[in-house]
Amino acid sequence: MLSESSAAVVTATLPVVRAHADQITGRFYARMFTAHPELLNLFNRGNQATGRQQAALAASVVAYAGHLTGVDATGWTAILDRIAHKHASLGITAGQYPLVGRHLMAAIDEVLGAAVTPQVAAAWDEVYWLMACELVAREARLYTVSGLAGDGAVWSDWRVAGVTPEATDVVSFVLVPVDGGPVPNFVPGQYVSVAVDLDGGRGRQIRQYSLSGRPAADHWRITVKRVHGTGGAPDGLVSRFLHERVATGDILRLSPPFGEVSAVAGDGPLLLVSAGIGLTPAMSALEHLAATAPDRPVVLAHADRDAAAHAHRAELVALHAQLPRLQLRLWYEQSTAGDDTPPTVAQVSRGWIEPELIPLPPDAHVHLCGPLPFMNRVRGDLLRRGVPVERIGYEVFGPGMLPDGR
Ligand SMILES: Cc1cc2nc3c(=O)[nH]c(=O)nc-3n(C[C@H](O)[C@H](O)[C@H](O)COP(=O)(O)OP(=O)(O)OC[C@H]3O[C@@H](n4cnc5c(N)ncnc54)[C@H](O)[C@@H]3O)c2cc1C
Ligand code: HEM
Repeated sequence: MLSESSAAVVTATLPVVRAHADQITGRFYARMFTAHPELLNLFNRGNQATGRQQAALAASVVAYAGHLTGVDATGWTAILDRIAHKHASLGITAGQYPLVGRHLMAAIDEVLGAAVTPQVAAAWDEVYWLMACELVAREARLYTVSGLAGDGAVWSDWRVAGVTPEATDVVSFVLVPVDGGPVPNFVPGQYVSVAVDLDGGRGRQIRQYSLSGRPAADHWRITVKRVHGTGGAPDGLVSRFLHERVATGDILRLSPPFGEVSAVAGDGPLLLVSAGIGLTPAMSALEHLAATAPDRPVVLAHADRDAAAHAHRAELVALHAQLPRLQLRLWYEQSTAGDDTPPTVAQVSRGWIEPELIPLPPDAHVHLCGPLPFMNRVRGDLLRRGVPVERIGYEVFGPGMLPDGR
């Protein structure tokens, strides 16, 4: 809870801070990276260049202030959980919060100038620390559950035991622990962070990849789509590196599994809806069900550019044989010669996904994964069709959440 005096100051200054939020976070990053260039290796350079991370951080601090002052009633548990899981997968430590807070407060001061009286500065410092405490507590719990000390040492070495082409620009990496130790279990829907040292002394970058294989196996699998730069933008740093530089026998540094969204929630009917590379959590869910609950009713509704771009197609046919109650519904934007999915296995339509045609079993739990506009459309339709909001989980393959933050 904000103190009464700070609540009044935050309510009065929220509009001006909100209006300058992007400028403030822009200055915050510039200051912080000048003082601590080593942090450039921790933050995602692609997000910095496109401003996506700026928007996420600015939006979350300002929205949290709105929540504390009662202006914004968004459910905060999901948002804080999401950030904490992401932070834990990056090895963020409690000791880094004062540094971030100091630079954020200095950036507010720099952008808003004389408007930042000592009283205003103290009130926003309080907002920052209330949010920081929530996150630090959650992250401490996550580290404990994963058997980690919370000192940032989240990385362990994994050997690439195999690289499998899955579709145009998509490969899977099968990974085993270098030390021969046990393979940590995970819940379908969880992801690992992968840290790579880029060539030419360009430093380190970290990205998250959903585990696409079965939990409780003797290996992990991730499936990576190569991101090509379009309109003059550079190619994706890490996906390109993984595609071009990583081969069987190489070592990758991975975090333990994190992620608050289960792709197998509940024990009744399940609806998995994905687009493009967003299929990876659903693949883990289906592999898991095939091994543990083959009779569970499950629908996979998947949209892709065409059959050639659709990763794991052959695997889906095999899973269909193991999951008698699996219904596969596919949408391909374009036709290709290679589309030989047997009609007995999947119903295939041409064009964009038609949310109203997605089979919806009664009382289903839903998991969505794909681009934000895709998920927004599909979720909107599912809500209209009566699915309660708390039954719809979703994963975003980047920073941010759906517009209503739920
Ligand atoms: C929880 C989670 C799970 C995920 N699971 C998967 C998964 O299973 N499989 C998968 O393939 N991906 C997954 N992702 C996405 C993955 O983490 C990466 O974001 C993705 O591989 C792209 O990373 P990159 O380093 O290749 O691209 P980046 O270097 O991060 O670039 C991203 C985009 O920014 C653009 N960009 C970069 N610099 C600039 C610039 N200067 N100007 C303009 N544009 C620029 C690039 O062109 C590109 O389009 C997941 C993400 C999350 C958060
Ligand atoms: C109250 C304090 C903080 C807030 C509100 C905050 C907020 C956020 C948010 C909203 C995201 C994006 C999550 C997502 O949707 O994926 C994020 C990611 C991240 N945060 Fe924080 N954060 C805080 C503190 C810190 C600290 C102390 C560090 C350590 C230096 C840190 C480092 C990162 C990194 C490296 C990422 C991922 C960046 C990326 O992918 O570009 N954060 N944070």
